[in-house]
Amino acid sequence: MMARPGLGILGSGKGSNCRAILESIAKRVLRAEARIGISDVPDSGILHVAREFDVTAAYLPPGKFRTKLAAEAEIELGQILRDAGVDWVVLAGWMRVLKEPMLQAFPHRILNIHPSLLPKFPGLEAWKQALAAGETITGCTVHYVDAGVDSGEIIAQREVPILPDDTPETLHARIQIAERELYPTAIRQVCA
Ligand code: GRF
Repeated sequence: MMARPGLGILGSGKGSNCRAILESIAKRVLRAEARIGISDVPDSGILHVAREFDVTAAYLPPGKFRTKLAAEAEIELGQILRDAGVDWVVLAGWMRVLKEPMLQAFPHRILNIHPSLLPKFPGLEAWKQALAAGETITGCTVHYVDAGVDSGEIIAQREVPILPDDTPETLHARIQIAERELYPTAIRQVCA
């Protein structure tokens, strides 16, 4: 039998996508093994979620920058992931742009989920961007990570309608429901 692919899940927030992935693995719908959960935010929800599922959880001090890791931290991140036996890096609410050390260590092996129908509305708070633009449909996208911001090759998308009385909060909540269905399915598709 083929070994199950090892996942390293990276996030900065509450970890609802991480939870959906770990539940999918627990139910044996997603044939993969979560090897480690890493956050740049101490005590973040995602670290608690990882521990709840008996997955090693690690805090990575990010260094002095706000939107990227310090060079040493990014090299350390690659090392931690390799030591943990990670084949696929899964960004789940990870708020820092990854640079060459990670892109070279895991070429075409880093996935991200973004709350819009890319290439529309890359960047922060994409659901607010979609509302402000007067869209009637938005959604979420799973894509490979490259050197740009939310610009890598698209793997899968799910549409979410924008309702007339939507607020940023109600819209984001509905997009997140779609994300939690889409991400485990898309991971399954690329890891197969
Ligand atoms: C998600 O909405 C995802 O699209 C974005 O960050 C959010 C993470 O949420 N990249 P969670 O931590 O998985 O709950």
